Amino acid sequence: MNITKVNKETIELAAKIIKEGGLVAFPTETVYGLGADGLNPIAVAKIFEVKKRPSFNPLILHISQKEWINKFTSYKDERINRLIEKFWPGPLTLVLPKTELVPDIVTAGNPTVAIRMPNHPTALELIEKSQTPIAAPSANKFGHLSPTLAEHVEKSLGDKVDIILDGGECSIGLESTIIQFEEGNFYLLRPGGLPKDEIEKEINVKLLHISESHKPVAPGQLPYHYSPTKPLLFLNEKNLTKNKDKKISAIFFKEINVKYEFVSTKILSTTGNLKEAAANLFKYLHELEKEDSELILVEPIKEEGLGLAIMDRLKKASKKYS
Ligand code: TXA
Ligand code: MG
Repeated sequence: MNITKVNKETIELAAKIIKEGGLVAFPTETVYGLGADGLNPIAVAKIFEVKKRPSFNPLILHISQKEWINKFTSYKDERINRLIEKFWPGPLTLVLPKTELVPDIVTAGNPTVAIRMPNHPTALELIEKSQTPIAAPSANKFGHLSPTLAEHVEKSLGDKVDIILDGGECSIGLESTIIQFEEGNFYLLRPGGLPKDEIEKEINVKLLHISESHKPVAPGQLPYHYSPTKPLLFLNEKNLTKNKDKKISAIFFKEINVKYEFVSTKILSTTGNLKEAAANLFKYLHELEKEDSELILVEPIKEEGLGLAIMDRLKKASKKYS
């Protein structure tokens, strides 16, 4: 049993776990979160591993001071400041352009990051003591209900989490409202704990709606799912032969096992560690996009554990080009 009642010592311990790259389930006013150091890509990869989601979903960065927004996002609109002043700490998540500090795995490759300041003393103290923003989805396995009690977390994730801080029942019990600001428009990505008319009233705008599938309804290109700007295909005989006149860069899982004059090569994890591979995948895709090659070939990996989510990502990225 790793459920622990919240007190000064257990929060200290949880903060230590976060700093060391572990996983902490913690209460917020909305639902329990499954947290990791939001600036440590391997720790963030553990979240995906434990959630057993078959794909990567971008995560919310939780902060404990309003000023931190300027470290991790960039925006120039007074209305965002008004929302922060009025509704933080609280159940409002803002999706804004990210800064370099935010690892690509947190945003699943997107150029935007979701950020919020939770209104819960335990959450705020944990973040403060950890001295880092905490990336956290709801603390449930993929397809399960969001947890509003520490026992729910225990039932869904059990000993996969290093510690579960038991702060009693979440007062709101419903996830945060998510809005995205893009090209002067405000989009409602997910209705939640903060009613949308309160937001609309505060900044005097109509929130544009996004369907359940997060497809944009307005012309703006809402970058919800990132796809590489360069063609990407799986690395095999056929794709190599077909493209031999092109400049190719390649991503291997454990070792370079193909003889070919690639423009550049990357290895996801020399020890075959899937967490490391997941953490490096997004970084490498971004790096290779910038390089002087016309095509990226990626070695397929076994669809087990995190490998499933990694392959899902790659299949989606390659679909456009195969
Ligand atoms: O109340 C909450 O928001 C809880 C507590 C723990 O803070 N968290 C939560 O996280 O519900 P999660 O991961 O279960 O849901 C976050 C949603 C996901 O649907 C994700 O796709 C979306 O936020 N999201 C995150 N980053 C995004 C981004 N850059 N662009 C668009 N959507 C994003
Ligand atoms: Mg969730």
